[in-house]
Amino acid sequence: KTKYYRVDPVKPDTGVLTETAALLRQGDLVAFPTETVYGLGANGLNEQAVKAIYQAKGRPSDNPLILHIDAVAKLDELAATVPANARALAERFWPGPLTVVVERQPKVPDAVTGGLNTVAVRLPSSVVARELIRLAGVPVAAPSANTSGRPSPTTAQAVLADLDGKIAAVIDAGPCEIGVESTVVDCTTPVPTLLRPGGITYEMLLAVLGEVEVDPTLAGSQAVPKSPGMKYTHYAPLAPLILVEAEPAAAAMLVKREVEQALAAGKRVGAIVSGEVADILPARTIKAVYGVRADAAAIAASLYTMLRSFDDKPVDIIYAEGIAENGLGLAVMNRLRKAAGYHIIRA
Ligand code: TXA
Ligand code: MG
Repeated sequence: KTKYYRVDPVKPDTGVLTETAALLRQGDLVAFPTETVYGLGANGLNEQAVKAIYQAKGRPSDNPLILHIDAVAKLDELAATVPANARALAERFWPGPLTVVVERQPKVPDAVTGGLNTVAVRLPSSVVARELIRLAGVPVAAPSANTSGRPSPTTAQAVLADLDGKIAAVIDAGPCEIGVESTVVDCTTPVPTLLRPGGITYEMLLAVLGEVEVDPTLAGSQAVPKSPGMKYTHYAPLAPLILVEAEPAAAAMLVKREVEQALAAGKRVGAIVSGEVADILPARTIKAVYGVRADAAAIAASLYTMLRSFDDKPVDIIYAEGIAENGLGLAVMNRLRKAAGYHIIRA
């Protein structure tokens, strides 16, 4: 049975964190809140504990994990060398939603890195997360605390929906602030490479680094990927999702047309849309409404809850209205494209 603890996000109960930190240290799995999404934590120096993460999530073992630390200086204990770019990013954005990939020290287990010579490291800003890691006294390996392929959890309830009974404990500190995962930057390339857009935006990285490569698989327009790994959908709701990418007026018309056609074909239809588009859709559409298209931060914060909201509603298909890719919009569109398995309708 999974133990459940509720704590205050700003002043968490030390007794709870001491108890759960002890579970982590002894090799058990503990789900905990961060500012991005809930993580599924294990002692990051204990190979067996780390392997249990893959088991609980049903995650392919070649997908490496992030090690979470509680102080900037701990980066030097995990990295073989810390490149100047990684140092600059850590000093500017830690604690916060940024993960840097650096060369690993030999003590980092293969189970963490998937056998790679590099390791991903992050110092979260969540007080609960940092205090838990500090009390555990070890780096904490933690992927998002969802079943592999499902939307990441931004509440303890979403964690339990996927992992109840499979993990030792969950710490509930309410909903996550940012709502999408951390930005991942590979600092081992001459020019740092953005591997996953997230809470720290491309524009923010550019301001510190002057130059940032973007992993080619992130370019939406050429994304009909042929590589085997990319055929799997991530962040996906239970019903198939179709993403509509267009300027606001065209998107409104396209979503309306698609929804009406699907309804006419006898399907039960869900829609993840702005308030404006929600207003013009037929009443029997099951809607998750995200407010205005321009507010990417608010959309990011509710994105995974909206995707999961259809789990217990009878829909055969879901349409999502895309947004512009500036700021947090890049992360939102990256997750929506993956959730849709790159099934995209463009104007
Ligand atoms: O916000 C977050 O990052 C959350 C919270 C819990 O901290 N964690 C998270 O972990 O999203 P996960 O496992 O769901 O995603 C980790 C990402 C994956 O895309 C993985 O491929 C990449 O980081 N990654 C990890 N180690 C890597 C490495 N050595 N080189 C390249 N990519 C790496
Ligand atoms: Mg994940």
